[in-house]
Amino acid sequence: MTDHTTHRAITVIGATGRTGRLVVAEGLSRGLAVTALVRDASRMPAHLPSHEPSHEPSHEHGPRVVAGDLDDPDAVRRSLDGSSAVVVAAGVRYRGRHPWSGIAGRRDVVPAAVRALCTHATPLTRVILLSAVGAAESWRELPAPVRWLIASSSLRVSYAGLTEAERLLTASGLPHTVVRAVRLTDGPPTGAEVDATGRPLRGNPRVARADLARMLVDLALAGPGPGWVTHRVAAAGAGG
Ligand SMILES: NC(=O)c1ccc[n+]([C@@H]2O[C@H](COP(=O)([O-])OP(=O)(O)OC[C@H]3O[C@@H](n4cnc5c(N)ncnc54)[C@H](OP(=O)(O)O)[C@@H]3O)[C@@H](O)[C@H]2O)c1
Repeated sequence: MTDHTTHRAITVIGATGRTGRLVVAEGLSRGLAVTALVRDASRMPAHLPSHEPSHEPSHEHGPRVVAGDLDDPDAVRRSLDGSSAVVVAAGVRYRGRHPWSGIAGRRDVVPAAVRALCTHATPLTRVILLSAVGAAESWRELPAPVRWLIASSSLRVSYAGLTEAERLLTASGLPHTVVRAVRLTDGPPTGAEVDATGRPLRGNPRVARADLARMLVDLALAGPGPGWVTHRVAAAGAGG
């Protein structure tokens, strides 16, 4: 184990993504040792997003960056070294901004991340998987027009991957929490409480990635408890 090791050390997979980089920043701002497993280190921003009023980075030290593919056992092992929790915030890359744009690169990125953890994580490593409302049996919770949009577009690849990743994680025996989020939005934290009660959602619920990142880090620090919980996550007040 390396000396960055503390019980307050986490690894983030998908750390260059819009949610992942906020998870990294949130972890660092709380004084955690954060390791980012990335496929391309140059995509890791030099200055992580900060929502401090000064617009200065809120932390002195960046993450430890391990560059490597999810199929590279050495990189995965090094990225997990010393961490007691992993946040998986990876997702497929789309060719463009619209739902029919097609997928750029690997279609099974989230299952691949979970497979790597099943192989290399220790039995005490807590895994927090960012998934979506609509994955697995929660598909029926989506309004019919949304189901149609997903099923007829490239988005179905994401939902199929998240469903498979949830299945693999549930079967893994690793302590884990699956966080099924509603539609994610960018921008600063709203300060709104994140509703993880799992109550039915109506309308067009959303949650800010920045608020979600705070919750993901809370879960990563929650200790080795059973954690077999699936949250349905939205900004408080978003449901009916
Ligand atoms: N958009 C929504 O409203 C919504 C709602 C609920 C849940 N979700 C889910 O939340 C997750 C995160 O979403 P996001 O929008 O924050 O993600 P994002 O910005 O699209 O970032 C995706 C991350 O996955 C990484 N990645 C992609 N392909 C990879 C590969 N082959 N190997 C290793 N890493 C790879 C990317 O790395 P590179 O930078 O190297 O490409 C990036 O770090 C996704 O699973 C998404 O489906 C999204």
